[in-house]
Amino acid sequence: MSAQELDSLKAELLEAIARASDLSALEEVRVGALGKKGRVSALMQRLGSMPPEERRDFGQAVNTVKTAVAEALEARHTDLSRAATVAKLAHERADVTLPVREGPLSEGRIHPVSQVTDEITEIFADMGFRIAEGPDIETDFNNFTALNIPPEHPARQDHDTFYFAEGADGTRPVLRTHTSPVQIRAMLADRPPLRIIAPGRVYRCDSDQTHTPMFHQVEGLVIDEETHLGHLKWVLEEFCKASFEVPEVKMRFRASHFPFTEPSMEVDIGYAKVGDEIRIGEGDKWLEILGCGMVHPNVLKAVDLDPKKYQGFAFGMGIDRIAMLKYGMPDLRAFFSGDLRWLKHYASRRSPSPRSPRG
Ligand code: DAH
Repeated sequence: MSAQELDSLKAELLEAIARASDLSALEEVRVGALGKKGRVSALMQRLGSMPPEERRDFGQAVNTVKTAVAEALEARHTDLSRAATVAKLAHERADVTLPVREGPLSEGRIHPVSQVTDEITEIFADMGFRIAEGPDIETDFNNFTALNIPPEHPARQDHDTFYFAEGADGTRPVLRTHTSPVQIRAMLADRPPLRIIAPGRVYRCDSDQTHTPMFHQVEGLVIDEETHLGHLKWVLEEFCKASFEVPEVKMRFRASHFPFTEPSMEVDIGYAKVGDEIRIGEGDKWLEILGCGMVHPNVLKAVDLDPKKYQGFAFGMGIDRIAMLKYGMPDLRAFFSGDLRWLKHYASRRSPSPRSPRG
């Protein structure tokens, strides 16, 4: 093949490349020229059978054509791809106003207990309380002794405790019977001022319509130098108004006894029953919702705090009871039976929305 013929082959291929109007047409040109059986490749194959003196010049000339064709192919490929994208964008549209297709995740529900726990902790967080935690398996010391319930104290009987086998130190770990041991942990971990809220699971060997062996409590503790009963009443009143979403709530503080507080009180809220519905903040009926009091000096001493310098209040309430009240649910056991129909009915779909900050 003469140099002239090579030139015209090159010109022909470059023109075909320029004329290719889309990517598939361009691919055809590429295969016809540079593919295994393409025209340029065929010329390269001829080199082998040429006398050595011709081979060098011819090889170089064919290579020049090959390079020019490859470069032209690449440039055209870039142009055509860009044009293809532009065309695609021009006629494909996403309608962002269409409704979102619901997947299996949307079937998930938030259990009423989780929902109420979140609501309660958020209300206290708004008042400056931080969340504290403790383990479900507690030491006898944290669950009882440090809370002014020494061994043989009759209050231990009231708790229907699940005990574990005796450990090396001769004491028996327990499934915590209340969230009060978190008070001890919080006071051992940090010095006052302390303002904590501790929600969690608690266990007692008890089961009927209003008792399950596992249930939920939330504990509150405030320790400072001048914290007094007035603060306790204000905090609980603010909490009840926010939790039951009423502007005013009637509360009654009844003298009571807990080993870890002195004085101790049980708190009732006023309600009315209209048909099956319970209306908080109306009427003249009373419902007990929590226990509270000023932290007993012996509890402060147990965690090495000087009762002459520090004082504070504590409170504890049953979350499940509050949930039963808020949702009007009669049987506590349904909470933990995992019945899907019950969950669909009572559990909320929304993830807990952040409350607006209260003024
Ligand atoms: N721990 C008590 C119980 O489970 C509830 C309680 C009462 C907690 C008074 C407190 C409190 O912090 O001050 O019955």
